[in-house]
Amino acid sequence: MSTSEASLVIVANRLPVKRVEAEEGSTWVTSPGGLVAALTPAMADYRDVTWLGWTGEEGGPGDEPFEHGGIRLVPVGLTAAERVLHYDGMSNGTLWPLYHDKVEPSEFHRHWYDGYRRINRRFAEAAAAAADQGATVWVHDYQLQLVPGMLRQLRPDLKIGFFLHIPFPPPELFYQLPWRQALTAGVLGSDLVGFQTPEGANNFHRLAIRLGLGTRQSKSSLEVNGRTVRVKSFPIGIDNDRYDEMASSHDVTDAARDLRAQLGQPHVVMLGVDRLDYTKGIDVRLRAFKELLAEDRLHASQVTMIQVAEPSRDRVDAYISLRERVEQLVGEINGDFGRVGFPVVHYLHQTRSFDELLALYRVADVMLITPFRDGMNLVAKEYVASRFDETGALVLSEFAGAAHQLKDALIVNPYDIDAMKSTIVEAVEMGHEESRRRMKSLRRSVKKNDAASWAKSFLAALAE
Ligand code: G6P
Repeated sequence: MSTSEASLVIVANRLPVKRVEAEEGSTWVTSPGGLVAALTPAMADYRDVTWLGWTGEEGGPGDEPFEHGGIRLVPVGLTAAERVLHYDGMSNGTLWPLYHDKVEPSEFHRHWYDGYRRINRRFAEAAAAAADQGATVWVHDYQLQLVPGMLRQLRPDLKIGFFLHIPFPPPELFYQLPWRQALTAGVLGSDLVGFQTPEGANNFHRLAIRLGLGTRQSKSSLEVNGRTVRVKSFPIGIDNDRYDEMASSHDVTDAARDLRAQLGQPHVVMLGVDRLDYTKGIDVRLRAFKELLAEDRLHASQVTMIQVAEPSRDRVDAYISLRERVEQLVGEINGDFGRVGFPVVHYLHQTRSFDELLALYRVADVMLITPFRDGMNLVAKEYVASRFDETGALVLSEFAGAAHQLKDALIVNPYDIDAMKSTIVEAVEMGHEESRRRMKSLRRSVKKNDAASWAKSFLAALAE
């Protein structure tokens, strides 16, 4: 246990657990990957850790707090109507598209914002009640931007950090938001504000000054009402060693062998793994593949694509129409180029288990990650960490935060479909020597900047 006297409170939209129904009643299981894995190594430095979040379920006030994996979990309840305003509406209908370069239009509705503010207040009050005197509170992501400001008013004794997991747009775009002042002031309630990339940090720094909410102290700090607020980038990583080790386990090795055998004759397997989200460029990737097949630059007998599209936010209109677009394209490609028993695109609108994902990463000769905009894209890092034999090619959009670190990927502009097609062909045809050289360097980067070092460096900076 730690020698530290301080306690840590994590405030995130979601709890790190999901309820599963078992015969003896329901139990909670840890959600795969994500924040909790990143935080576990850092948690030892705190006397105790509390995590506040939504269970993802509909209901009134939250369940009672409970212990899970050494953390005290405090559920924050949302009714169905509140979820529509806060989660579907303001978070995913307004802020998500705005922060992702408006790949889809943002909607601005006053009643969504009112709901968002109400739920942010609920989180802030719950955090104020959960935190000991002088505790450190780490607030996460765009769903909770008002929380740091509200919490500072309620509890000026706390150390407050905020980390945005998604991109932060240039002020020119953010300025459209009718609530730009309140949302920026909310974040500035923190002592430390973290972003995935230096651009995100720089955008926010410029914005705060332009809105008259802070004055420049240095390129990474502001003065806000007599306090110093630091603004820096902390690129998030994954639990590298877990992927590295588990990818070579017996179970995963067997599953990968079976998968290869089921795929039949193709020599090259291309893989996409994404939440079914319009920011991910799934449709453009499929269009590039379709054109390559039509132009005979790739052949269905040699190349196959697996696309896992995890169901996501399926009550939001833009997600419903994306699903239609993607599924139509998959149908067209298989209709034009498939044979009985041998589809060219294997499409899974499903969530895969950790072991299944690892098996997919192992069979994938080429990983396609082509978002129009992405905070980081941890799938890129998961793929690299799973390639313990140093083979495989990564095609990576220049608009993913990961491109700042994974410089030896084949970097591509997803808006340039011709460039994307050539890059896919280059990846398919890449020689062993080159792919090994690139993969070695990618693996070094993913290992060095892992989840534990991310969490520790943010918390150390907050403690300064
Ligand atoms: C992104 C966001 C997270 C969010 C996740 C899944 O990574 O940064 O805050 O939890 O997507 O989306 P969901 O809407 O299912 O929570």
